Parts: sequence; structure tokens; C-alpha cells
Amino acid sequence: MALYQELPTLLLPWYEQNRRALPWRENTEPYRVWLSEIMLQQTRVEAVKGYYARFLQALPTIEALAQASEEQCHKLWEGLGYYSRVRNLQNAAKTIMEQHNGKFPTTYDEIRALPGIGDYTAGAICSICYNQPTPAVDGNVIRVLTRLSADPRPKTDPTLRKELTENLREVYPVGKCGLFTQALMELGATVCLPNGAPHCDSCPLREICLARKLGQQEKYPVSSAKKPRRVEDMTLLICRVGEEVALQKRPNKGLLAGLWEYPHMEGFLTAEKAITLAESWGLKPLSPVKIVEKTHIFTHVQWNMRGIYLECSQKSPQFTWADPQGLEEIYALPTAFRQFSE
Ligand code: ADE
Repeated sequence: MALYQELPTLLLPWYEQNRRALPWRENTEPYRVWLSEIMLQQTRVEAVKGYYARFLQALPTIEALAQASEEQCHKLWEGLGYYSRVRNLQNAAKTIMEQHNGKFPTTYDEIRALPGIGDYTAGAICSICYNQPTPAVDGNVIRVLTRLSADPRPKTDPTLRKELTENLREVYPVGKCGLFTQALMELGATVCLPNGAPHCDSCPLREICLARKLGQQEKYPVSSAKKPRRVEDMTLLICRVGEEVALQKRPNKGLLAGLWEYPHMEGFLTAEKAITLAESWGLKPLSPVKIVEKTHIFTHVQWNMRGIYLECSQKSPQFTWADPQGLEEIYALPTAFRQFSE
């Protein structure tokens, strides 16, 4: 596509001048780039920085990641959400140890075959780490390119991403593939913004952007109608005996699989019902200390949670009892539930 021919000339000098100094740009060793790209899916740069440093400090190599416990992996990911990302990361590390002699593979097809690595991540790693002409088209890049050519297809159209990828591949600049990938991402993240006005006046593509010419930047990418989120009401029982609180492990499948939670029931229970329930668990609850209501929004579901705090005088072995240090250092309690553990 003719419009694309100008992209490297316009984007590379702009990127050199405007790139943010980010931790994963200092060292393009594949393990580091891989980890950053997985963390950056669905998560903002500012939120990722601290997690990224902590993760690399705890698990500095692919081998260390392959050997870590699931519990440690979950704990290092606690609060980032989309926890299957870290389980896939570890499964891929194990595959690399077993099938690639512990060395991160170097071809697109081998990398794409690892658990949790899709077209976007494989393209990002191959271009950034190995300077291969492999586009990495994520939501940011789709926004930049659909605005550039005023592309009317909805962003969920399955042919859209494929076609943008093929068009981009033709203009990848030899020797500067990694810089080009990052320049596109950077433009989407800092200039060609979603939700509200993009910074078109400082955009290196402003002279060639069709959406801007039409004054319709905010129309692109065209979004398709979304299904409304399912809403679930539930009651959590935060049962304390002294300093310790009752936790249980979530099932190994489904939302927040394998993480920890407070015992809970569907629907909103009254304090009296909650006491009866805790008694049935053998906890000997005293009167409720307080009731707190919170909401947590996931991609496909919204949880409306009522937390009932009970002081109890007897523990029950059906739960795991966590003291404040355990909550801090051992048990990965997702953000939805952390809201209740002040
Ligand atoms: N978003 C996704 N990947 C990124 C990267 N490497 N740098 C900045 N933002 C990103």
C-alpha cells in the first residue's frame, strides 16, 4: 500500500527523538522482551514497570522461571490480572528448557509455537531481539493504521489484522526492524491515543493521515457492538481468628484459576445468614464486625461483592489460615479480593 511506503522515513527519526526510556528497551535479550510484551498485554506501561523489575529480580533467567513454584509465579503476578499469562509464561519456559536446550528459539515459527505466544508477541520478539521483518500488530498499531488509511472495517474483523500485518511486512526497514516495531507501538501509546483527542499536531504522520484529513480521527478504529457484561452478586466472608484470616484456593479452571480467595456464596446474604453459614463451617463466629460493599470489573463479568467481616473463636481445617505476613509474601490474592484485606 502506497501510504505505508513513507512509514519508516517518517517514524524512525521521530522515534529516535521521542522514545521513552523504558526498562525493557535497555537490554533486548529475548527473555526480557518476551516478559515485557506479555506483561504489557492489557496492562499500562506505568503499572508494569514495578512488576517487571520484581519479576526479573526473583526469576532472572528462563531456567529460574521454569523451576519456580506455581505459587511464586502467581505471587509475582498478583494484581496484574489475566493470570493465565504467567502460567503460559512458565509453561513456555519449561518447553524452552526441554526442547530448545534452555536457549530462547530464534525463528518466528518456533517462537510462535510456545504457549501464550501469538502473532503479536512472536512478531515483537523477532523484530526487537533479532531484527527480523516481522510486524507486531496489537490494538495500538491497529488504531494507528486504521486511522492512517481511514479503514472502515470493524477492529474485530478477522481479515483486518492479517492484512495490516502483510502490508506492513513489505515496508519493514532492513537493519531497523526492532526500532520500526517500537516506533509504531510508541506512536499508538503516546500520540495516536484512544478515548479522547489524539495529539495530531505532534504526529509524524499528520501530513499523510486520511482520518485526520477527514477530521474523523475518533471514528477509527471502528468498533463493533459489544455484548453487555454479565453481573454476579456474591457475599464474601472474611473470617478472622486473631491475626489470621480464612482463605481457600480457587479451582484450577476458569476465572482466577488456582489463586486464593475468601470463602463466598452466591447472592447477597444478611449478617444473620452469614453467621449461620460460618457456624456450619465450625468457625464459632461472634457478631459481625462490619460489612463493606465493592465492585470489580473483569472483561466479561462484573462482580458486586458484599464482604462480611466476622471475628471467630475457632478455626476450621477446611480453610488455609493466613497471617498478615503470609498474605503479603505467600498467598496470591487477586485484586478483586484484596480490596477487603485492609
Ligand atoms: N506496549 C506493548 N509493547 C510495548 C513496548 N515494547 N513498549 C511500550 N509499550 C508497549
